[in-house]
Amino acid sequence: MTAPPTILVFDSGLGGLTVLREIVRARPDAHYAYVADDAFFPYGHHGEDEIIARVVPLIGELIAAHKPDLVVIACNTASTLVMSHLREQYTVPFVGTVPAIKPACASSKTKRVSVLGTKGTVKREYTRALIRDFSQGCEVTLVGSADLASLAEKALSGEAVSDAAISAELAPCFIGNGASDPDRTDTVVLACTHYPLLMDRLVRLAPWPVDWIDPAPAI
Ligand code: DGL
Repeated sequence: MTAPPTILVFDSGLGGLTVLREIVRARPDAHYAYVADDAFFPYGHHGEDEIIARVVPLIGELIAAHKPDLVVIACNTASTLVMSHLREQYTVPFVGTVPAIKPACASSKTKRVSVLGTKGTVKREYTRALIRDFSQGCEVTLVGSADLASLAEKALSGEAVSDAAISAELAPCFIGNGASDPDRTDTVVLACTHYPLLMDRLVRLAPWPVDWIDPAPAI
């Protein structure tokens, strides 16, 4: 019998738990180490060079400490920047989390899709390239949220988070004149692993129903 694998799951905070729960569902036999770099949270507020300089050596230390068979970078803000650096420096296999633009555009009926991520993720060249390559004729709106990841952390730790605060972050995703507009946004990509933590509230506060694309099951 072979030993169960050790899987290291990494995020800037608690958002990676939305990915971890899907991985555990697929591999309940594995050993897990979950690391939240909350001393540097939120990653969305840091520059690209700072994130690379922080994450690449930190992952090296975590590999030495936990000896994982696989590392999952369960953070879009980091994955859209560091994956090639990690693969160059370490031999362990890596899986990243990047905005699910291709499946979202493939399934949108109105051909209008919004990508909701941190300000860092929506600025990335990586994200822009995904839109260039995979928008499949859709109009894609990039929405950089300053606070939604922090609001998700607060809500998960039991602090009160107002509907108004969440709605303000969501509003720019919804282009169109209501649920009957044939050109309205019908698909929103959750391009930050924190956001599915607020799923019930996103659904309730949306101005009209949309498909929310959470890439965690695919990861
Ligand atoms: N969970 C991270 C992501 O997927 C971002 C949160 C942060 O800004 O640190 O992008």
